[in-house]
Amino acid sequence: MLSSLSSHNVIQYLQEAGLCSSEDGASADSELPQSSKNRNFRVNLSGNRTLLVKQEESAQFDNAPHELFNEWLFHELLCKFPVLGNNPAIASSVIHYDGANAILVREYFPQYQELGQFYRQGGVVHQRIATEIGSSLAALHRATFNRREYRTMLATAPQGMIRYQSYNPAQGIEVLAPDMFGNVPQAAFQFYKLYQRHETLESAIADLAYEWKPCCVTHNDLKLENILLRSGNCDVESKLVRFIDWEACGWGDPIYDVGTLIAEHLRIWLGSIVVDTSLRLEESLQLAMVPLQSLYPYLLALVRSYITSFPRILEYRRDFIVRVVQFAGLVLIRQQQAAILSQKTFNRVGIATLEVAKNLITIPQKSVQTVFGISEAEIIAPTTKLHPVPKMENKQNLLPIYYSKTRLRGC
Ligand SMILES: Nc1ncnc2c1ncn2[C@@H]1O[C@H](COP(=O)(O)OP(=O)(O)O)[C@@H](O)[C@H]1O
Ligand SMILES: [Mg+2]
Repeated sequence: MLSSLSSHNVIQYLQEAGLCSSEDGASADSELPQSSKNRNFRVNLSGNRTLLVKQEESAQFDNAPHELFNEWLFHELLCKFPVLGNNPAIASSVIHYDGANAILVREYFPQYQELGQFYRQGGVVHQRIATEIGSSLAALHRATFNRREYRTMLATAPQGMIRYQSYNPAQGIEVLAPDMFGNVPQAAFQFYKLYQRHETLESAIADLAYEWKPCCVTHNDLKLENILLRSGNCDVESKLVRFIDWEACGWGDPIYDVGTLIAEHLRIWLGSIVVDTSLRLEESLQLAMVPLQSLYPYLLALVRSYITSFPRILEYRRDFIVRVVQFAGLVLIRQQQAAILSQKTFNRVGIATLEVAKNLITIPQKSVQTVFGISEAEIIAPTTKLHPVPKMENKQNLLPIYYSKTRLRGC
């Protein structure tokens, strides 16, 4: 068993795995951005072919499948159900999986770049990109919605291993306990203090966890780094966007994916706010270099194209927009926590993000207006003209004998 890949042995590994030969003149470059859990290498081969080699650093070789197995399983799912492969945005480029060494190899598309990087380099937030993202994601959710065969396949575990039930990502932040003091930077204490101060936040997150309804195949990690955008010099036949990195995919709640996308775009606004101790929070938010208002058309295009491609979601989840906003808030909080643990910093941008996230979660109806600039009814009106949502049947005038929502707070 190989212990760990390096730029010195990655080519030898590919040759032994039969993925390239000595005539290929392979060269490895490790320019890829550092990932928190994987060691990634880009290997250039002759004939303009490039491979991405990922090895999961933190893979535990115990009784549970590691995350790269999930990415492999998604690839197998696409092979088994070619109808899903009609959606080029999710098409797999996986060519090799080695479970014993937690290594996965994919074709790399040099003509694409990360959407996050595109924006960081001043790329314009464009409605066409939003529309493609919304409709491509909806196509995956719609095609797998309530389909047992996909659910069963995603429950597969590698031989001899156990897979636990679907992971519910709607979780709050654990309470800061004395044994965590060593790992948490001083600056982050404020984050935990602010988080724990809001009592309504805790119960709203508990509600959200209860509202998490797994019903289709979901990506579960739609960061802007995991969406690739076609670059200018690529032929126009290629898909404009592609979703990559299916390590967290599973049987999940589609609203979580849409909420993550909204959170990722709100971060563009929050990351551009003016930070000065003399400014109140609202002033900082108002003075952002990328005003929230400039993102409205994009965010609207995203959710409307999603609903237009998957109109049934409104029948199934009448509170779709409100829940999207709440999940976006939750994702912002979890991202803050992850950033604190990895970068050991928490600054005024973090405080502003936490405040905004708290509002999204605890006053979602009002926050819909903040995020999209218009009301929930106005957002869905153009989509329901095309696909009217059937009216709810009138409830009979009977007293319920039990309340489905009755439960202990926090459970
Ligand atoms: N096919 C590809 N084309 C272009 N860039 C890619 C491709 N695959 C991966 N990348 C780049 O490599 C990074 C890491 O790949 P990813 O699968 O997201 O690994 P990780 O799980 O480590 O985040 C991506 O964020 C992206 O920048
Ligand atoms: Mg990634």
